[in-house]
Amino acid sequence: MPTVTFLPSFRKTEVPKGSTILEAAQKAGFHMNVVCGGQGKCGKCSVMVRSGEIDFDREKYGSFYTDEEVSQGFCLSCQARINGDLRVLIPEGSLVQEQQILVDSPGVPLEINPAVWKYALTLSPPTLDDQSPDLTRLLWGIEKSGGPKEGSIYAPLEVIREIPKVLRESGWRITATVALVPGGYRMINVEKGDTTSHSYGAAVDLGTTTVVVYIRSLIDGSIVGTGSNYNRQISCGEDILSRVNYAKRGGLEKLQALAVESINAALTAASNSAGIDRDDVYEVVVAGNTIMTHILMGIDPAYMIEEPYVPVVRRYLTTAARRVGLVVGKNSGLFIFPAVSDFIGGDIIADILASGMAESNDISLLIDIGTNFEVVLGNRDWMFACAGAAGPALEGGEVLFGMRANPGAIEQVSLDLRTLKPSFRTIRNQQPRGLCGSGLIDLLAELLRSCIIDRTGRINTAIAHERIRQGRQVPEFVVAWKDETAIGKDIVITENDIKALIMSKASILAACQTLMNQAGIGREEIARIYFSGAFGNYINKDHAITIGLIPEIPVERVTTIGNGAIAGANIALLNRRKKRVIDEIARKIAYIELNADPTFMDEYTGSCFLPHTDLSLFPGVEKMLDQCRILREQS
Ligand code: FES
Repeated sequence: MPTVTFLPSFRKTEVPKGSTILEAAQKAGFHMNVVCGGQGKCGKCSVMVRSGEIDFDREKYGSFYTDEEVSQGFCLSCQARINGDLRVLIPEGSLVQEQQILVDSPGVPLEINPAVWKYALTLSPPTLDDQSPDLTRLLWGIEKSGGPKEGSIYAPLEVIREIPKVLRESGWRITATVALVPGGYRMINVEKGDTTSHSYGAAVDLGTTTVVVYIRSLIDGSIVGTGSNYNRQISCGEDILSRVNYAKRGGLEKLQALAVESINAALTAASNSAGIDRDDVYEVVVAGNTIMTHILMGIDPAYMIEEPYVPVVRRYLTTAARRVGLVVGKNSGLFIFPAVSDFIGGDIIADILASGMAESNDISLLIDIGTNFEVVLGNRDWMFACAGAAGPALEGGEVLFGMRANPGAIEQVSLDLRTLKPSFRTIRNQQPRGLCGSGLIDLLAELLRSCIIDRTGRINTAIAHERIRQGRQVPEFVVAWKDETAIGKDIVITENDIKALIMSKASILAACQTLMNQAGIGREEIARIYFSGAFGNYINKDHAITIGLIPEIPVERVTTIGNGAIAGANIALLNRRKKRVIDEIARKIAYIELNADPTFMDEYTGSCFLPHTDLSLFPGVEKMLDQCRILREQS
């Protein structure tokens, strides 16, 4: 088998010939960026082959690299097959960066209060005068060490079977592990010697595209290892709908197995990086969307995509992790976040938990944006939630020069109000290839500020400027001249692009306004807005308000929580009391069906302006636009 040596760490691994470099890297414990799930679409998994033979279709995937990069040996690790021994350099940008997860939620300090305890015991062996059974002796030992009362611990048969041998072979020095499960205390393991320092749990974000795992010490809460992987279900369909259809065609078992395989691979990577034994992982907590968690548990998701759209189960689920195939400790528990509806799943409940909004008296708005969006409004007493489709424009789709956040994407733009000259920053500082979501939001806000577009998004062709011109069908603004770009073409934004962006942002703002109407509150009563998910991480919050993507509140009160699903799963893993909070959140949320809400269409129409038809909802933006207009008129 060929040996692959990864630089700069010189970590080595052996894989069968024909494996991809990505498979080898994951086997070696690297957490590669696999945004598209290894389909050769995102370019995030690039590596540099320093020596050795690979099969890689440079013509097909050439658009990802400059000629110089090709000559340096750059290729997509998910598409490059190994022909023999290799030396491969993994650039830092191709590794999953440790995400800044919000473990300390605002106003809710992190408590280490797990549902698993280990007791190191030295028991006295039985004698003719003391013929207590082994199990009783053990349970008494636990009680004497400050654990639960002897009669309150259930010991399953498989653990009882282990007891006599472990007690005698260890000279009566053992460690017993006890977990709090819905029915009470349960003994989940008995092992020789003192192993109390090895007690871990795993928090899992089971996403449609990727799976992220954090292994935490259940003693001090520290992160001991992380792993990520693409969701291998992608081979059965890229989006959630195609997965459900695959399940309907008899593929549920395969989808379930692939979900388990994906989590197990990420668990392996995380435990390898931590140098721990997976048998010492005693609890797994999973947050995911409703369809993903149904599939993981082997529950048919078919009826969730048919009217009247009901999931099989909304409450949280617990079972033995090994029962679904997760390779962790023999009797370790699995906790699955509850859901509210088929559209508001455990991932959103985890977002809510991570933000701390469910434990605050203040009213907060939480927004999770992707091709679909979810919005939650409320506080500790009440919550409304809704979900909808934002369309692909905010992620760079359906925009002439839109692209994903790949190298060469313009991610930040500003315009000089007097000269209208753009300044921009691209990902990895490469020559620009297009505009990604955060760049598009910046550009929209800057075009509005500089009066190049009006509040309907129309380009003002009366401005005599070389960058404002009539395109093939509609007017356009030139962001970068062709000699500045990597694609040999001017990068422009057209009036049609602007309309698509406005429609996308309008559905999100309208959803926020609809929930505010339901609650009978105005924007002044919103204490915080939380952005969750990768999209929110990169957008300029001022510009998000300027274009009317979110209601206007003081910008310093807009916070990004990053991957809230994994953050929430971590919180629940480390503090068992939060599981009760999670349950309360799920029960508290009133789901609003936007299509059935009579005010949503009106709100949407009003939101199809920049920032909104009613400028009194955006007083700060109104003032700023007035000032900019005066400045433009003077120039
Ligand atoms: Fe997306 Fe390789 S191109 S993971």
